[in-house]
Amino acid sequence: MFLKDTWYVACTPDEIEGKPLGRQICGERMVFFRDASGSVAALEDFCPHRGAPLSLGTVRNGQLVCGYHGLTMGAEGKCVSMPCQRVGGIPAVRRYPAVERYGFIWVWPGDADKADPAAIPHLEWAGHPDWAYGGGLYHVKCDYRLMIDNLMDLTHETYVHATSIGQPEIEEAPPATKVNGDTVTTSRFMHGILPPPFWAAALRAKGMADNVPCDRWQICHFTPPSHVMIEVGVAHAGKGGYDADASDKASSIVVDFITPETETSIWYFWGMARSFAVHDAALTDSLRTGQGKIFAEDLEMLEAQQRNLLAWPDRPLLKLNIDAGGVQSRRVLERLINEERAASAQAA
Ligand code: FES
Ligand SMILES: [Fe+2]
Repeated sequence: MFLKDTWYVACTPDEIEGKPLGRQICGERMVFFRDASGSVAALEDFCPHRGAPLSLGTVRNGQLVCGYHGLTMGAEGKCVSMPCQRVGGIPAVRRYPAVERYGFIWVWPGDADKADPAAIPHLEWAGHPDWAYGGGLYHVKCDYRLMIDNLMDLTHETYVHATSIGQPEIEEAPPATKVNGDTVTTSRFMHGILPPPFWAAALRAKGMADNVPCDRWQICHFTPPSHVMIEVGVAHAGKGGYDADASDKASSIVVDFITPETETSIWYFWGMARSFAVHDAALTDSLRTGQGKIFAEDLEMLEAQQRNLLAWPDRPLLKLNIDAGGVQSRRVLERLINEERAASAQAA
């Protein structure tokens, strides 16, 4: 169950540097490459000749050359040449709307006529001189909604991330969840706590005391189809917490773009945007390494959880107070998916 008439992050520009990239998104096998003008093209990853994946070929002069017998595709999905053959009768392959923006390649797996680049979410931090960004990509064998659940309830930090961002005070501060249209927000505030190792390091990087009581916050924002942005940070206690002056806090945005590959696997684009020490490239690297380790802990848990869910498909699961963020996000998704299906049934 995926929302298809929407934009997903498909890949990053480095992944299509001088070569095609094959990637399955929402069950659709796609190939990404740059055309002669440098724009991104996304086509079905299927050569109309004998069905070889076009992504195993090469890009020549902005055209995609099949790696099997040399059929050459233009960015529009039409065959432009084939050795020893006239190409007039060779069927075209499907083209998917694709846009490069904010350092990501976005793709629309659904009805191309409905694709509007204005619907790509605005990322205020991307490419902005007052912000620095570092991130990575993991392939995770789990339903994309398990990752949404994970990110919309950070109670798990106490257990899964005990050595970095976890601390017992998290589970003592109950989260509050609000739904506003298609957006779900789950917030948690902790007061007068000592910063856990990850945040102590961030305070030190800012030249701030790291062993004094702090206020800490986590504000998770879900927006469809499966983007979760989490405002996180700590401020020295008594300075206003979330609203403290920049000089009294260390804060950032945890960026999560969850792109379904199949019903039980995802491409997980994770990262962190921060508005302090933005020119410190070594800090960007160490934050990326730290975050990569933290998310690898989630990955292990989520894949094990998915294996269990597949082994016991009929076991009912609980919905506890801490699960409200994920439950509400799933509700929004379900409503939008039903609306999309009803609209396309009507159009058919
Ligand atoms: S399968 Fe692609 S050219 Fe033959
Ligand atoms: Fe986690």
